[in-house]
Formats: sequence, structure tokens, C-alpha cells
Amino acid sequence: MVPLYHEVMSLKIRFRPDGPLVLDLPEGTTFELNGETQTLTRAHLALCRCGHSERKPLCDGSHRKIGFQAAGGELIVREASTEQLGG
Ligand code: FES
Repeated sequence: MVPLYHEVMSLKIRFRPDGPLVLDLPEGTTFELNGETQTLTRAHLALCRCGHSERKPLCDGSHRKIGFQAAGGELIVREASTEQLGG
């Protein structure tokens, strides 16, 4: 069966001021890190951007201890629509 439409996916990454890159996801979301399945215990996944986490690529809060400074912001990626008709 050929799909009549393709759902457009989008992804938003927040740059927390003076902190990590954050993906907002429902608590309980599972993800795979280097082949190991893990479950979010919070409603976000925080990725280190200061380079000092002991749990890279995950943020462990070390950015606060070192006084990491960086602007906040966000990156939004939208997949191009690939609408398929007919078939
Ligand atoms: S950004 Fe949090 S430990 Fe690096």
C-alpha cells in the first residue's frame, strides 16, 4: 500500500542560556545511547555543550560549576514535505 501522505516531522533544540542543548520530550520517552536503551525521567533530554560533563553526551550539571557562558536560543528543523499521491 502506498501512503497518500507523509507526515512532516519537525525537531526543536533549545539552547538553554549558560547551559545544555535541550530536547523537550514526554517523560518516559525511551532513547538509545550507544546501543543502551534508556528512559527519560524528566520531560526533556539535556545534551552537554560545555564539554565538562562526566556523562557526555548528556548534561550532568557541570556547566554550573565551571561558570559556562553561552547565549540561549533554539534550532528548529522541519523535514521537507514529501507528499505522495496515487499509486
Ligand atoms: S552543558 Fe551541562 S554539563 Fe555541559
